[in-house]
Amino acid sequence: MTFEKKAAQCAEYIKKHTSILVVSHIDADGLTSAAIMGKALERKGIEYNTSFVKQLDIQTLNGIADQNPELVIFTDLGSGMLDAISALKLNAVIMDHHQPHGIYEHHLNPHLFGINGSTELSGSGVTFFLASALGDNGDLADLAIVGAVGDLQHAKHGQLMGMNRQILEAGVKNGVLRYEKDLLLFGKQTRPIFKLLQYSTDPYLPGITGSEDASIEFLKKIGIRQHGEKWRRWIDLEAKEKQQIVSAIMQYCLSSGLQACNAQRLIGEVYTLLREREGTDVRDASEFSTLLNATARYDHADIGLAVCMGDRGAKFDEASTLLNEHRKNLVEGLNLVKEQGMTRMENLQYFDAGNKIRETIVGIVAGMSSSFINNRSLPIIAFADSNGGVKVSSRGNHELIRKGLNLGEAISEAAKIVGGTGGGHDIAAGAFIPGESKNEFLRILDKKIGSQIS
Ligand code: C5P
Ligand code: C5P
Ligand code: ZN
Repeated sequence: MTFEKKAAQCAEYIKKHTSILVVSHIDADGLTSAAIMGKALERKGIEYNTSFVKQLDIQTLNGIADQNPELVIFTDLGSGMLDAISALKLNAVIMDHHQPHGIYEHHLNPHLFGINGSTELSGSGVTFFLASALGDNGDLADLAIVGAVGDLQHAKHGQLMGMNRQILEAGVKNGVLRYEKDLLLFGKQTRPIFKLLQYSTDPYLPGITGSEDASIEFLKKIGIRQHGEKWRRWIDLEAKEKQQIVSAIMQYCLSSGLQACNAQRLIGEVYTLLREREGTDVRDASEFSTLLNATARYDHADIGLAVCMGDRGAKFDEASTLLNEHRKNLVEGLNLVKEQGMTRMENLQYFDAGNKIRETIVGIVAGMSSSFINNRSLPIIAFADSNGGVKVSSRGNHELIRKGLNLGEAISEAAKIVGGTGGGHDIAAGAFIPGESKNEFLRILDKKIGSQIS
């Protein structure tokens, strides 16, 4: 069977129901997945409710089963809990791209068709194909691309690959998307240019990131001028000025000995949402995804969902306020990691953020910290305090994956041994473990990773 055929089957099954509970993940990919599903159901006249969860563990599943839903559609999660979903006799359809554990009938996941779920299709992408099987929903491609970019699926090649490109083309055809090569730094649509440098976390520019004065100084030095009192945004600059800034950043990286910063990292494909107003937080897919993470990862998934569903009024303003906090938290988190440093084991390096970084963003910080970590030959493991235990996040890179690293497997197995649960992708995975088992968990994980990459 093909992926499309399976999507059509799942769509037919969904159509047999009249009331649906959509359960999704609290990040940009999860929000856009839920929004795509919601719009597709709405257009079919099927009633639904949406709920968001931090992770799908037994407790959460029990809570869902207690509501006795006619049908549950899981988006951007579920594949790690197939057996538990069966055991609870939940009537479910699962639209996910995480590494699957177990077997389930109505389960659409790229991994089952030899398609890589960490680079070629995200949760929102899977949901987009389902929505396309449900009806005429090609215009939802913009949301699907926001989800894929939120999961960093464009990171490996500096552009989206695999089935993600089919979605992209659907978006272009429907007049909702455009793509082109441009600077990858965050904030091109919305921020005065010095802010791009001040908040640059990938690459992390030592001496510039985090400092407004140093960022402004950097631009003045290379002759980029203000217009009167005002700094322009990236989208307001002339091509020549853009080129000048890119060269200067590369020069700066070189002289700071930053290996992680090269042309490939600074320039890549960027995705523009044509239905959105220029200069807003939702015009660029990457900025949009960060706006969404700023809501859902802070217990405000409802706000992010409203923005995905089209709210550009009160909810949108609330999201923008949350975004400022989120950006500050990320820079503070990165500075903490920088000060504290990483502890090295044989096959991994880790930091423990304790209660200084929120468990829902510690994974993002871990991923970003790779831009200033000298040792790229070890995956990064991060801990953060969580209610009743410890949250684990891990991030690898493509070089390590070529050597055999599979964080999803290693983390899931190690977590299980110490009485926790976890899973994810080869390149990024997470878990929740008992607080007292941190050291044992690290020992086991170190061994497992060692045997993967040996
Ligand atoms: O749960 P979900 O699948 O939505 O999240 C995927 C995670 O993988 C994201 O947090 C994303 O940042 C991470 N990732 C990464 N580096 C990549 C690809 C994905 O850190 N190259
Ligand atoms: O939370 P974090 O961003 O580190 O998650 C990385 C990846 O691991 C995501 O794809 C997330 O969905 C997955 N994950 C998981 N089970 C957990 C925690 C995270 O599958 N308990
Ligand atoms: Zn996802």
